[in-house]
Amino acid sequence: MQLYSTPSKVASLGCIYLADANTDWKQSSLSPQQIAYVQKNIAQKINTIHFNEFGDHTFVIIIENKPDTFGAQEQWRKQGAKLNKSINELKLSGINLSNLSKESMVAWHFAEGFALANYQFLKYKKDVKKEKHTLESLYIFEKSLPKAKVEELQNLIEGVFYARNLVNEPLSYLTAPKFGELVQHLAKETGFEVEVWDKKQIETAEMGGILAVNRGSIDPPSFSILKWQPDNAVNEQPIVLVGKGVVYDTGGLSLKPTANSMDFMKSDMGGGAAVVGTFYAIAKNKLPLNVIGLVPATDNRPGQNAYVPGDVVVMHNKLTVEVLNTDAEGRMLLADALSYAQSLNPQLVIDIATLTGASVMSVGTSAMLIMGNANEGIKSSLKESSFEVHERLVEMPLWEDYKEMLKSDIADLKNIGGKFAGAITAGKFLEHFTAYPWLHIDMAPMGWNFQTSGYRIKNGSGAGVRLFYDFLKKQANSETRSEK
Ligand code: BES
Ligand code: MN
Ligand code: ZN
Repeated sequence: MQLYSTPSKVASLGCIYLADANTDWKQSSLSPQQIAYVQKNIAQKINTIHFNEFGDHTFVIIIENKPDTFGAQEQWRKQGAKLNKSINELKLSGINLSNLSKESMVAWHFAEGFALANYQFLKYKKDVKKEKHTLESLYIFEKSLPKAKVEELQNLIEGVFYARNLVNEPLSYLTAPKFGELVQHLAKETGFEVEVWDKKQIETAEMGGILAVNRGSIDPPSFSILKWQPDNAVNEQPIVLVGKGVVYDTGGLSLKPTANSMDFMKSDMGGGAAVVGTFYAIAKNKLPLNVIGLVPATDNRPGQNAYVPGDVVVMHNKLTVEVLNTDAEGRMLLADALSYAQSLNPQLVIDIATLTGASVMSVGTSAMLIMGNANEGIKSSLKESSFEVHERLVEMPLWEDYKEMLKSDIADLKNIGGKFAGAITAGKFLEHFTAYPWLHIDMAPMGWNFQTSGYRIKNGSGAGVRLFYDFLKKQANSETRSEK
């Protein structure tokens, strides 16, 4: 889907008008008869009005003004998604969008939902033409949203789509080395720097956690280091984003039951996808901020040489870990990446991972979990962004009590905490490998959509990209302000 900025209505296409109770219809290009029809509908409290005059389609959406901002924004996105569906059903190829309401950001959110809903993953379909949506373009009136904003939104949406594509790719294509290759291609295309380590380099760096998980695999691991360091960056020390890149999680020798829990485990690199998708958006939009991304990647499977319950692994930071469940693999590779992040002298490190089933048990699919020791200012800024983009974060505590649960008889710690508080003990485990302001996002609840709901399309969600983008943008702005 391509978003365009247009000075006036593209004449050959229909138009969506966003309106509210105060809309001055004389400002629209509607005829007196059309206005009369619209007003009759409004009087009947109908808030989606459509008329088709021999193929010239007009849609009028009466939007809710902002009683509470976040709720209204999400409502607008959903209305965009709904219109996207109707317009594809009408088999139109493009449409105009004009905001006649008093809400200045409504076109952004409506277009966001509209475009996100148009996503499809058709790479493996033989007859693409048959299934492909007809809608390809949205022309947004300049007066409704400035051109620069339209371009920014386009890049952000493409970042989300890139992440969704990565999640939707099966292991038969997306192995750990392939993940690195794709990141290299993307770096060239969008202008960020990248280094992709192969198995030798990971061995040289003594990343015992990544190597342990990789032992059962046929494919070697990879470690992608993404760098966006523009000359006009407002921060000196980088913000580091770390994403779990388990390209497939069978559980390893502690095998998952095949029937259901393994079916969507190609999505276990959703954190890595979020980091890469974010880099797409920040590089394309040239965000003035130093950001480094780290994605340790491998599949987790029970090969002949697979790591076993009882093994002791020496991690990158020299702590030893007793593996008591090979299905708790995410924390093993994240720990090494977090420990490596220390060498980057970070201002802040945020990791994002489809880490635990326990997180899904606690919040369902409505939120993601956040925990960590970064200061309250940073925490509330990230939480604020999470509500802004409707990828909401709920905080869990990392009290010392939980440390007890990770005690091992023979090593410094073990990789599971027991039956209770599974999402927290996973976070507590990661904390052992951090010595800087740090936050951990358990995105397991939102990494995979089991069904389509509005602009959240079934399968790979691309969650995390809009969250990080919003947060980083705010960081870039606040740092600029404080330096003035
Ligand atoms: N990738 C899974 C977590 C997961 C579960 C993600 C459901 C998405 C949906 C992770 O590697 C895992 O297997 N975690 C275990 C940890 C346990 C063995 C301590 C879990 O949550 O069961
Ligand atoms: Mn697992
Ligand atoms: Zn996993």
